[in-house]
Amino acid sequence: MAYARIAGTGSYLPGRVLTNAELEKMVDTTDEWIVSRTGIRERRVAADDEVTSELAEKAARQALAMAGVGPSDIDLIVVATTTPDQVFPSVGCLLQNRLGIHNGGAAFDVQAACAGFVYAIDVANRYFHTDGAQCALVVGAETFTRIIDWDDRNTCILFGDGAGAVVLQAANEPGIIATHLHADGKYHELLNVPAGVSANYAQILEGEAYTRMQGSEVFKWAVKALGDIVVETLEQSGYGKEDIDWLVPHQANIRIIRATAKKLGLGMDQVVVTVDRHGNTSAASIPLALDEAVRDGRIQRGHKIILEGFGGGFAWGSVLLAF
Ligand code: UT7
Repeated sequence: MAYARIAGTGSYLPGRVLTNAELEKMVDTTDEWIVSRTGIRERRVAADDEVTSELAEKAARQALAMAGVGPSDIDLIVVATTTPDQVFPSVGCLLQNRLGIHNGGAAFDVQAACAGFVYAIDVANRYFHTDGAQCALVVGAETFTRIIDWDDRNTCILFGDGAGAVVLQAANEPGIIATHLHADGKYHELLNVPAGVSANYAQILEGEAYTRMQGSEVFKWAVKALGDIVVETLEQSGYGKEDIDWLVPHQANIRIIRATAKKLGLGMDQVVVTVDRHGNTSAASIPLALDEAVRDGRIQRGHKIILEGFGGGFAWGSVLLAF
């Protein structure tokens, strides 16, 4: 059986930094409230002419360089995004073209909001088991601030833009050890953008299709679902808490991250945290955090890592991997 192993990571953040002090001038909020309730101090905002596929390309090129492979080696592209450049083609296809890949490999997007990256890893991993994939690019990329209402203090303080990428290569040993995905669409009204092509299209045309969230409800569900999924991940894979070196969580709120770490029995020195500087970058947050910890040397070859994400849908999931 062929396994998928991470051969390289990359990331990209837009240059523009939006601080809590700036948000204090935009809505009725304070730096103290934002930091104490979320852990966020600043986030990045893409320039008006920066599109999701461009962020994805910059992260992907770094991951390719670290893996030591060229674009033509990539036989599969899976992009997790909630904020694609266009309705279609997918960001996957646009990214494939940006990278100059014309080898006929598959390229597509996965949409699972903030759980998108773990969904994308799960999907890509299956191609190694069943379809002979040799070298895949898996990207989480978002221009999430485009769907933010800058007058809504409940949401505008939370989100940011960015992209992260991994190159997966075929290997004789994992790699990706286990993936667990869940969803329950019953909760679609608690976190959404209530407009799209076939519903409330006028909001799109008027530039008023914004993220709406019942924050405290989502918070409760996120803590419960993520606590449950890390336990499920360990139990079903036969790993113990003591086997895990790192938690690389979705970066929505430091309080949710702390609760999940506690459930795993991990100290915060074993958790990669970027929420203070990136905010919530949706599908990009996990690969952004992963790349940071790989590049600064915290994550080493052989380390066992749990990735987890939770978001709109609700959709949530985890990945257990050996780096
Ligand atoms: O990534 C996808 C998944 N998303 C998440 O996991 C996000 C989950 N939710 C959260 O992280 C938290 O619920 C928030 C950070 C969004 C909110 O924190 P909270 O502790 O749940 O606050 P709350 O929504 O219960 O609001 C408490 C109070 C309210 O005022 P009243 O009604 O008590 O007078 C809000 O109006 O805080 C008020 N509030 C604010 N105050 C200052 C809400 N937003 C702000 C703000 N600044 N930006």
